[in-house]
Amino acid sequence: MYVTLKKVLKDADQLNMAIGAFNTHNLEMLPAIIKAAGKQKSPVIIQTSCGTANYVGHKNLVAICKSMAEEYRVDVVLHLDHAKDFGEIRKAISAGYSSVMFDGSSLPFKENILGTKQVVNFAKEYGVSVEAELGTVGGTEDGVVVSQDEVFYTDPKDALEFVAETGIDALAVAIGTNHGQYMSKTDIGFDRLKQIKKTVDIPLVLHGGTGVKDSDVKKVIDLGIRKFNVGTELLIGWNRKSKECYDFNKENISNRDNVVPCLEKIEEIVSRKIILFKNINE
Ligand code: 13P
Repeated sequence: MYVTLKKVLKDADQLNMAIGAFNTHNLEMLPAIIKAAGKQKSPVIIQTSCGTANYVGHKNLVAICKSMAEEYRVDVVLHLDHAKDFGEIRKAISAGYSSVMFDGSSLPFKENILGTKQVVNFAKEYGVSVEAELGTVGGTEDGVVVSQDEVFYTDPKDALEFVAETGIDALAVAIGTNHGQYMSKTDIGFDRLKQIKKTVDIPLVLHGGTGVKDSDVKKVIDLGIRKFNVGTELLIGWNRKSKECYDFNKENISNRDNVVPCLEKIEEIVSRKIILFKNINE
């Protein structure tokens, strides 16, 4: 079914698992993600930046998520990632997105609360879930760079106030992960995450999932991470496979011969991540 973020994260909480939130960059990549989720019988969150949503068309994304959720009998959420602008949020909700993230992380604390509240009030009228961020995740996301000097981690006390004041459904935390980190792995602040989990009783979201070691996945899930964002790993997988195919294949072959191997790569990465996120003790 086509569902909200709130619904899948509630289910994940009961099962002590995380739901993979995968960034699609174009229309082509999207079915491969849902197919992988269908085969693994796991809910999935498709997320798009505002840039991708405007490029592909919000309504096209909504239509595909809805039809594939039925075809593959799997819960699918369509989520707008890192929206800083209220107009972008309104556009996505009007087109039928079931979840949005308001990213006020670069704003002063009180302004972040005010902006987030405004989004929650609007989204609630449509039954749409809201994620917001407190603290800043480093690295590069959709061309926006946050340098290490600008990074500040989530303060558990602030998190308590932020969640109580805003009424959000999920909180993105800054605990040492970085967007776009694919050449190395990061050191996660587990103690900070533990403190946040103790003070806040809503599902927590991890950004910059590409840079997280496999061996840390279980630890962060056991400490309350319920939405696990992965973007760059898919992009790198697609781009490397694509380069290989275009270099190898003749220029007058069907375009599918270059694209299908990339889709298989996406399915493989997403399946592997979903299995990790199920957090099943072997
Ligand atoms: P990565 O691209 O680093 O995996 O992060 C994705 C993300 O957090 C999207 O918001």
